[in-house]
Amino acid sequence: MPERTPYIAANWKMHKTVAEAGEFVDALLPRIAATQHDVVICPPFTALSAVVERRYGTAVRVAAQNMHEEGSGAFTGEVSASMLVELDVEAVVLGHSERRQLFGETDEALARKLPAALAAGLEPILCVGETEEARDADQTEGVLERQLRADLAEVGDDRVAEVVIAYEPIWAIGTGRTATPEQAQEACAFIRDVLRERGGAADAVRILYGGSVKPANAAELLAQEDIDGALVGGASLDPEEFAQIVEAA
Ligand code: PGA
Repeated sequence: MPERTPYIAANWKMHKTVAEAGEFVDALLPRIAATQHDVVICPPFTALSAVVERRYGTAVRVAAQNMHEEGSGAFTGEVSASMLVELDVEAVVLGHSERRQLFGETDEALARKLPAALAAGLEPILCVGETEEARDADQTEGVLERQLRADLAEVGDDRVAEVVIAYEPIWAIGTGRTATPEQAQEACAFIRDVLRERGGAADAVRILYGGSVKPANAAELLAQEDIDGALVGGASLDPEEFAQIVEAA
């Protein structure tokens, strides 16, 4: 089985000005200087350059929180993959549940965004996850399977291993209600099983858990066999807390 490097990502959402982003990176870098893990910061668009410039020469990589699938065009308010690459951004979060629920992100759009990101050289971090109603109705696996099949439909089997998947149960995001390690492991193992239909990539794909990850619960979640990292929201806004989560992996 391939060795999967732990992957810890900070999803800042709509938090941090340029000045605050700079302060965060300056505080974080000495705390994670020895890490061998992949550490990724996802700032808002306006703070991407500030984080990119400070992380040169370190292990930290930078991801945007969204992008449009077209290279350019009449799409007011949108940003393309090539615009992100020009800033030396290396990755992009796609399909976060807040984008799906609040901004009408569809699986059809994601099926176009995934190959566009890969073609531009960006590593996609694809978020999937069920609502509380779906979990209560025993539909978690159905939801995950449908999202994975639809969103990865246009990604070639030979490129599936380059996609990072984040399992984020919607009921656990920003609620303080973390999935139990068993629930998270079960869903991440299921995701890996679904990816097996895409050939040998399944064992190489990094699968993250996201949803109220904190220093106090990170080690237990990250010790699960099929959980290769974390996508951290609230706790990623504080450099000390985020560094502790990186250390727990
Ligand atoms: P949270 O957010 O850690 O604040 O629950 C996670 C996410 O939305 O990626």
